[in-house]
Amino acid sequence: MADDKKTNKAAAVKKADKDEPKDTLYSRRDFFSYAGWASFMATLGLSSLYFTRLLYPRVLFEPSPIFKAGRPEDYTVGEVSTRWVKDERVWLVRDNEGIYAVFALCTHLGCTPRWLRSESKYKCPCHGSGFTKEGINFEGPAPRALERLKIALGPDGQIVVDKSKKFLYEKGDWGKTEALLRV
Ligand code: FES
Repeated sequence: MADDKKTNKAAAVKKADKDEPKDTLYSRRDFFSYAGWASFMATLGLSSLYFTRLLYPRVLFEPSPIFKAGRPEDYTVGEVSTRWVKDERVWLVRDNEGIYAVFALCTHLGCTPRWLRSESKYKCPCHGSGFTKEGINFEGPAPRALERLKIALGPDGQIVVDKSKKFLYEKGDWGKTEALLRV
């Protein structure tokens, strides 16, 4: 009797297995298999991206402080050239001795003064500071003269201005060799 029961139970399990649609069984297995692979690949991809990113550190590429400003003969004696103010914030001034570069940055709060040819001065539009053609402050709140910049002649005959090297009037720097390009 007990054997009959066991046999019947086994037959019922077999039948149930037979009745179970094979497609459903496989697709469930497949689903979990694919999902596992997909998450593995995604993790791998993200890790690779992260490590690739580490190879290229975040660096700010600032524009070079050095620029070429043409040839000395491009500048007229007695004139202030405004050619480089917009792009480089620099005036080039030629006098009887040579050419010097004046940084167009007001020494009060950093506005950009304008060269007023008719008045022969640089005038700051922010608070009215005025500077002579040489760059010396004579009116308004600016506490000191405009700064001059390193200037030299390159091997190709072009003027090279380096804005990273400044010369201050109050420190007596304007007499230094690099503050004036003798031409
Ligand atoms: Fe030039 Fe104030 S910023 S006068």
